[in-house]
Amino acid sequence: MGSPDKFKKRVGVTGGAGFIGSNLLLHLVPEYPEYLFINLDCLTYAGNLSNLAAIENSPNYVFEKVDIRQSHQLRQCFMKYAVDSVIHLAAESHVDRSIHGPADFIQTNIIGTFNLLELAREKIPHFRFLHVSTDEVFGSLEDNSCSTESTPYNPNSPYSASKAAADHLVRAYHQTYGLDTVTANSSNNFGPYQFPEKIIPLTIINARNKSFIPIYGDGENVRDWLYVKDHCRALDLAFHYGRPGQTYNIGASNQLRNIDVVERICGIMDSILGDGPYRKLIKFVKDRPGHDRRYAVDASRLETQLHWKPQFAFDDALRSTVEWYLDNWPWVENCTTGDYRKYYSQNYENR
Ligand code: NAD
Ligand code: DAU
Repeated sequence: MGSPDKFKKRVGVTGGAGFIGSNLLLHLVPEYPEYLFINLDCLTYAGNLSNLAAIENSPNYVFEKVDIRQSHQLRQCFMKYAVDSVIHLAAESHVDRSIHGPADFIQTNIIGTFNLLELAREKIPHFRFLHVSTDEVFGSLEDNSCSTESTPYNPNSPYSASKAAADHLVRAYHQTYGLDTVTANSSNNFGPYQFPEKIIPLTIINARNKSFIPIYGDGENVRDWLYVKDHCRALDLAFHYGRPGQTYNIGASNQLRNIDVVERICGIMDSILGDGPYRKLIKFVKDRPGHDRRYAVDASRLETQLHWKPQFAFDDALRSTVEWYLDNWPWVENCTTGDYRKYYSQNYENR
């Protein structure tokens, strides 16, 4: 008789070295010592293993440099660890980059998801697939409405179109083959380890550097903000208790205009650093092409079925995020060299 498996579950976490992936692994690895977590990440510009220093020597965690676009690499890894479930986060995630060059978004977000689904299909019915997607698939909403899980898809950027395509594939694998899937459509995250291209870290870092803070268009676009630690708890619940084939919106009802978020950050910086007011650095610049006006998420299915509620108030989480970036300046300096500068001038010079 073979010895019983040391681990109760063997969970592949794709994109585990990115912003949400790192926060999720920092939550899951100590929480579930009876599971093995395999971080599958090819380490693009957005992947950073130093985020995971606190768990890198844990007996229930391993890292494998794997590109989800390469199905043979994935297959080898699935066999090596007998992977029996996936939390799929790996993606090209930045809308502006998808406008400059959509090709990688098609390859990673669509073909990469397809490669994972094909491997999962071989293990039906003993495989759970949690797909992490976005509220951007629903497109821009009218004033006062919120997207529910039955709102029709209406993606407007190459990024959101590639995520929508992946969502449809996941749905099809459930409907056609009976794969045990759960899809999360999550709103705008913020918190520690977010790559500086996104508006919240970009504002903190530019303010600290006394550089201009770029706001696209009139600054009245609305995003629904979700603290990453609340998001990770929701993903944990969706992974364990989400109903097969179900989709869940994840959001914390923090709908704010971009100008208001940026001004709040400037206010926090004034109170921590003095030497302000930092709001003087705000500069309105040419709008993002196809810029969705408003996202807002109705998360009542998640709240009623999975009993999730956000635990962090937006202003407290925003302040602790500002403090995290200021306290972790070497981390910031590490990711804002070379490639980042090239991207930054491509996106903001002469704008
Ligand atoms: P991120 O850009 O910070 O990290 C992406 C990670 O995926 C990186 O570690 C990168 O190295 C890895 N990766 C990219 N291409 C890969 C490939 N071909 N093979 C293997 N690894 C690859 O992204 P994030 O903000 O952490 O987002 C994670 C997921 O959540 C994405 O699917 C994104 O669409 C979704 N999402 C993000 C947000 C948000 O606000 N950040 C909101 C909703 C949904
Ligand atoms: O809604 C969920 C999505 O949130 C995720 O699916 C994406 O992966 C994630 O990148 C994020 O997309 P956004 O485009 O909303 O995030 P970003 O931080 O790029 O922009 C937030 C808002 O701020 C958006 O309205 C554009 C605006 N913005 C952004 C940047 C980078 C500016 O005004 N100036 C900027 O310099």
